Amino acid sequence: MPRRSNPLSEESSLTNFRRAFRDVLTSVLEQAVSEGDLKIPSEEIPFLLQQVRETADPKFGDFTATLAMPLAKKMGVKPRDLASDLIGRINKDQLFVKYFQPIDAPVGPGFINVRVLDQALADGVRMACCNDRLGVAKVSQPQTIVLDYSSPNVAKPMHVGHIRSTVIGDALSRVLRFHGHSVITDNHLGDWGTQFGMILWGWKHCRDDSAYKENPTQELGRLYRLVRKVVDADPQELAHDSIAAGLAEKYPNARQEVLAETVKLHEGDSENNSLWEQFIPACREEIERVYSRLDVTFDHTMGESCYQPLLAGVVNDLTTCGMARESRGAVGVFLEGYESPLLVQKADGAFLYATTDLATLAWRAEHWKPDRILYIVDHRQSQHFQQVFATARAWGCRAGEQFSGIELIHVAFGTVLGEDGKPFKTRAGDTVGLEALLDEGVQRASSIVGEGEQARQGMDDARRQEVAEAVGIGAIKYADLSQNRTTDYVFSFDKMLELKGNTAAYMQYAVARVEGIVTRGGVDRELLRHEVLEDPSVLELSDPLERRLALTALRFGCVLEDVEVDYRPNVMTSWLFELASCFSSFYDALSVLKAEGNQRTTRLVLCDLTGRTLRQGMELLGIRVPNQM
Ligand code: ARG
Repeated sequence: MPRRSNPLSEESSLTNFRRAFRDVLTSVLEQAVSEGDLKIPSEEIPFLLQQVRETADPKFGDFTATLAMPLAKKMGVKPRDLASDLIGRINKDQLFVKYFQPIDAPVGPGFINVRVLDQALADGVRMACCNDRLGVAKVSQPQTIVLDYSSPNVAKPMHVGHIRSTVIGDALSRVLRFHGHSVITDNHLGDWGTQFGMILWGWKHCRDDSAYKENPTQELGRLYRLVRKVVDADPQELAHDSIAAGLAEKYPNARQEVLAETVKLHEGDSENNSLWEQFIPACREEIERVYSRLDVTFDHTMGESCYQPLLAGVVNDLTTCGMARESRGAVGVFLEGYESPLLVQKADGAFLYATTDLATLAWRAEHWKPDRILYIVDHRQSQHFQQVFATARAWGCRAGEQFSGIELIHVAFGTVLGEDGKPFKTRAGDTVGLEALLDEGVQRASSIVGEGEQARQGMDDARRQEVAEAVGIGAIKYADLSQNRTTDYVFSFDKMLELKGNTAAYMQYAVARVEGIVTRGGVDRELLRHEVLEDPSVLELSDPLERRLALTALRFGCVLEDVEVDYRPNVMTSWLFELASCFSSFYDALSVLKAEGNQRTTRLVLCDLTGRTLRQGMELLGIRVPNQM
């Protein structure tokens, strides 16, 4: 058999058809503008391209452009007439004829609907199935992007509230990296905050040495909670806690003393600093355990404490360039449009959260030279970030610092709620510890492991446990990522472990199904890909279900673009769900292993492509996919 050229080097193979259609529209619109037929500024064209989408119903083609309506309105012409004129131009475009069927006429009020040529689709499938990146191109202009996420305040156990930043940040970092950006992840630990004042005071007044020896973080957590009650001195709370009540009575000035401990730490007091150094390793170990179960890693873990030597300089700089001034003993940055100043130093000399964020920003700018920094942090900190960003921009301009050009983005998210619609708490009203939550997820998952198609082949206990871990933790992560990140969501183990629906288990199950087909059919996947690579004519996408599945799988590149637009991992989960559902319809209706000839090859290729695509998508969400379930 003559060796055919690798399709990857052929320009004609393309997987991102939406991008191709947008490129066609760009040149058509640009030409119409230059010829004076379209009276809009050409800068508006990129925005118009947002109006190209996949159609909801394949009956109407594969993609639809709705831009004729707003354009016609602007120009005072009939949308259908404008659409017809554009269609005339589109049909003549060289790129267009290569990949799409000619368009007859506008649909409805002026939709321009297009259908990918069967041959182009088959070439796309061939390209994706023979390529490690599934035919997904990297971005043409990669950027350096810093992601600041997880960032818990240490010395308190991690709780359910920490899951969102950790999981969303991790998924975004994987997506952006895969898309070709140079990504730097940094866990900005809260390791220098006022919680240490409480712990230091607690350590000095009410520690339990043997408890500390046994489990340091648990004892530090106890001290933190206890001292907080003493400081808050809420009579209702004290009524339930005699130890806290006793301390509150014995130390009426506890609040001031706690503040003084933090100040002493920050001023370099040797006792407090050596205690702090003693506490930190235990705190780090505790969170590392959680990260390793979650499969989350960071390039850097530079806590707030790293920036302490820089804080006085930041305040000094801001004052010198006229942005910060004294106000009632404290120092604040006064910006137009903000009611209150951004405080950078308190009257007692202590620096604040914002001071550290500004110092961190300057440090990152100098050392990492990023184009963008994403802060994946609770929406309750929006005001803080708005003010910090505005200050940084103004400061950068005045001081000629390189960070004036960095795009700063607060990727905010909502709260995790319990089934009662209130912030998720234990029955006793405490926040839910993250480790206990993961344990429960895994334990519940073990009941659905082994229900899948391959269970018959049996799994030993160790394997079962491993799969339960992937399914349980995957369920928790997926449930979080599949939410619109800006809204609150209700945490429900029952829902997230459902085998049908938009859940990790459903996706994991779909992959296991593909693996089952491959194993049962004794299919050699490498050989299969080789066959397609050698002879493009073996791919025949004739059934609408095959076509739909192929188009959905090939949307991967578009999905990455869409996740990046607004930093929404739920765009990825929705697509994975659609892909798994398409696969299910395909597999339920058409025989694969019993099919023959090119039909069998084509369907096996689609199974292989779906399995790999689902797996890659899940991997970008940080979710493991076992081969069996
Ligand atoms: N440690 C902070 C908290 O728990 C979050 C830090 C977020 N990152 C930042 N650069 N401010 O609220």
